[in-house]
Amino acid sequence: MRLRVKAPASSANLGPGFDVFGLALMEPYDIVEAERIPDKRVEVEVLEGYRVPARPEENTGGYVALRMMEEFGLSEGVRLRIWKGIKPGSGLGSSAATAAAAAYLVNKLFDLGLSREELVRYAALGELVSAGAPHLDNVAPAIYGGFVIVSQEPRLRIYHVDPPPDLGVVIVLPDVEKGSTRRAREVVPKEVPLISLVRNVASASILATGMALKNINMVKEGMSDVIVEPARARAGIIPEYEGAKRLGEELDAGVAVSGAGPAVICVIEKERRKLAADALERFYALRGYKVQVYITEPGPGVTEIG
Ligand code: HSE
Repeated sequence: MRLRVKAPASSANLGPGFDVFGLALMEPYDIVEAERIPDKRVEVEVLEGYRVPARPEENTGGYVALRMMEEFGLSEGVRLRIWKGIKPGSGLGSSAATAAAAAYLVNKLFDLGLSREELVRYAALGELVSAGAPHLDNVAPAIYGGFVIVSQEPRLRIYHVDPPPDLGVVIVLPDVEKGSTRRAREVVPKEVPLISLVRNVASASILATGMALKNINMVKEGMSDVIVEPARARAGIIPEYEGAKRLGEELDAGVAVSGAGPAVICVIEKERRKLAADALERFYALRGYKVQVYITEPGPGVTEIG
């Protein structure tokens, strides 16, 4: 049996929801195909798109498959073929998408009967390979789709909400190297003033309520972070951060750093996406950046395709 899935990019944090909020996107995505092989090992082929390691131990999907084989004592192995459509290190959950696809595929191929929550736990192992920290705000939306609230302490809790149907997304990915997610996490303050915490809790609450009430204006309004994004901008990880936020306000859109950046997510009504995409592209071009732009929307989690 050969199975093929589409695994979505995702945008983590959405401003105030550091390590908690994630949104699955319709585009970009990876395609991952898998089949059982008689040998007890994992093979990874990276066929097209961005380059990622093909050694199973270093590939986020390969590593997830290895760990699942070990954990479930599987007597056969798996071959993964990857079409890598999500740029690694972009802030778009590239490693999480492949990891989520691998967890989904191994579960299906070996009939393990895992729940979505368990798939998230296995996919999270892939994040360890790439980021060194098991944050779940990309793997959870990559499995569940839509908007996800995920919390790891004191125990794993995942809540999924369908975003407002008219919520459109523009992703702008400036052509810069942000360095590792590990470093982007190191610059995040370990302690914060209470006043900053209060502001972020307010924003996060407004955003999550907006998702639940299908109110785009509340979602946009809630995309404000006074803790993590400013620290990363100060560390030089997010180019033109202040200007991009201001442009978001002028456009009546919500603009936030996507995950650890450098991609930026802009939330705006679907019919106004083109306008926002043009304005953001012009903004970065005037400052000397080449950008990739995705005009997209929230999407489902890992989905089987023919
Ligand atoms: N929440 C994580 C971070 C997402 O901001 O570091 C990384 O993709």
